[in-house]
Amino acid sequence: MCGIVGYIGKRDAYPVLIKGLKRLEYRGYDSAGVALISNSGELHVYKAKGKVSDLEQFVADKDVSGNIGIAHTRWATHGEPNSTNAHPHISSSGNLSIIHNGIIENYSTIKRQLQDKGVEFKSETDTEVLVQLIEYVQSSQQVDLLTAVRLALREVIGAYAFALLDKNNPDQIIAARQSSPLVIGVGKDEFFLGSDASPIIEYTDRVVYLDNQDIAVITRGKEEVEFCNFNNERLEHEVQTVELNLGQIEKGGFPHFMLKEIFEQPRCLQDSMRGRVNIDVNHVVLSAVIDYRRQLINARRFIIVACGTSWHAGLIGKQLIECLCQIPVEVEYASEFRYSNPVIDSRDVVIAISQSGETADTLAAIELAKSRGAFIYGMCNAVGSSIARATHTGSYLHVGPEIGVASTKAFTGQVTVLTMLALAIGKARGTINNADYEKVVSELSKIPEKQTKLLECNDHVRDIARIFTYARNFIYLGRGYNYPVALEGALKLKEISYIHAEGYPAAEMKHGPIALIDDEMPVVVVATQNVLYDKVMSNIQELKARHARVIAIVTEGDTRVKDLADEYVEVPQTIECLEPLLSTIPLQLLAYHIAVCKRKDVDQPRNLAKSVTVE
Ligand code: AGP
Ligand code: GLU
Repeated sequence: MCGIVGYIGKRDAYPVLIKGLKRLEYRGYDSAGVALISNSGELHVYKAKGKVSDLEQFVADKDVSGNIGIAHTRWATHGEPNSTNAHPHISSSGNLSIIHNGIIENYSTIKRQLQDKGVEFKSETDTEVLVQLIEYVQSSQQVDLLTAVRLALREVIGAYAFALLDKNNPDQIIAARQSSPLVIGVGKDEFFLGSDASPIIEYTDRVVYLDNQDIAVITRGKEEVEFCNFNNERLEHEVQTVELNLGQIEKGGFPHFMLKEIFEQPRCLQDSMRGRVNIDVNHVVLSAVIDYRRQLINARRFIIVACGTSWHAGLIGKQLIECLCQIPVEVEYASEFRYSNPVIDSRDVVIAISQSGETADTLAAIELAKSRGAFIYGMCNAVGSSIARATHTGSYLHVGPEIGVASTKAFTGQVTVLTMLALAIGKARGTINNADYEKVVSELSKIPEKQTKLLECNDHVRDIARIFTYARNFIYLGRGYNYPVALEGALKLKEISYIHAEGYPAAEMKHGPIALIDDEMPVVVVATQNVLYDKVMSNIQELKARHARVIAIVTEGDTRVKDLADEYVEVPQTIECLEPLLSTIPLQLLAYHIAVCKRKDVDQPRNLAKSVTVE
């Protein structure tokens, strides 16, 4: 899930590329590299292990002239993260250079065939195979570069978004896409390339999203990009306008994107509910439920497919939909679902949840469900993303770009949209009575205000975090709607502080994990006042009897849990099904502050990347 940037036009390419890479660095940061055709016609390729800033240092005294170039920030799949395996990769002749996002699955077969023909490889990557194959086809069949790309791609199995630069043609970039995202920005006398629109929006809001099997020829001086498919048939693509502004993708005074995004949640949820939740009449409207009413309200079953944090949101969605709509719901890891030969047909509705809208496993799960006739409903944050385009209908989260690798506002956005969906379907089916419906709608509309108040706990949570940085393990417990919150809290801590953490339904403790408890084990318990309150109280007693150090998330005004817990954070009162929208926030802050205390790279944790566009 690397980040790809390209530029061709009148400006100096290097600063545009570096700035673009920094905006895409959330996608991977194992290494960075750039290829430029200099003003004197040389192809300069510079690469460095590590972050974009390492590349900048390396390049400080080099020739970075030229107004055409491509650049890459890598999340390694094939070959360790070092400067040799960093992109761009160069063909044997030194004429072609390529940047790639994805995996060439049959790379070892192609590599062997090319090696038999005498081609020598420098790196361990799958990507190098692509550039070598294109050059081999070009020279052995004596065809132009575009034809070579088309022919080569017929041999290639896998996922890619790539951009190719030819030293002998400093006026052209060729790009192609299969399963990995690619966007072209269309400026005046200039073009930009990006894995998403963030490196582009500073210069133009006019973009073209590539579809699978598209090849784009971007030529200096032309007004439009030319598109064709592998069979050389010309394709037309509409230029679209992106609604993204720079402020949305900058830190805005916060030390980290993650903290900014945690604090943005009240505003983001308001945005997500805008035009959907009408508090004057206590009513929820989702256009998808109006347009596809028949499919949604008559569903025999919902199957939620997602990964990571989005899967946790799905677990909450299951409880919401089953409770408000009386329709059974299954929640599947997309990565398991896609290989599970599921029993599914046209009476099923699959809900695909994905912040990025690019997660390869979720996309594959959608394709499988579609091929078996299911109706697909998408819940994405990234507008125009691959998943958003692959579904029959859907509802965007509308929480704005999420840059921190650890997902925060997208999670609460997903839970909000799932709540609205459950309300809209439940109302249409008559499975929720009017009084309950109006109560949930009214409470939902008050959540942003309550989150704002809750965020005042930030300093207190920071103090708690300082106490627990010693820990090597953490346990998170919750029940009912707060069980997925416990899973999510544990995931946040693992991701950014590298502390081992496990989430459990609180009552499961006694079936094994309680053996882990001693006086060093911090246990975070979501113990808000709901129907399971007394049960969770007993679970806390069991923990304290074994000297665990309990950090409790309690409802404002609670006294009983507070007396038992070592530390506590109060959250405003709300109805049970909306509790995750509040109880999650202290857990996000706890993970954040522990990671900061441990001096970890909060926004770009090791081994991770924001969107997982590979299997
Ligand atoms: C969340 O903090 C993670 N970084 C990760 O689990 C993420 O939620 C998962 O990869 C799914 O991503 P998506 O929502 O973009 O599909
Ligand atoms: N497979 C390529 C590599 O390892 C690209 C990785 C990716 O896009 O995630 O370099």
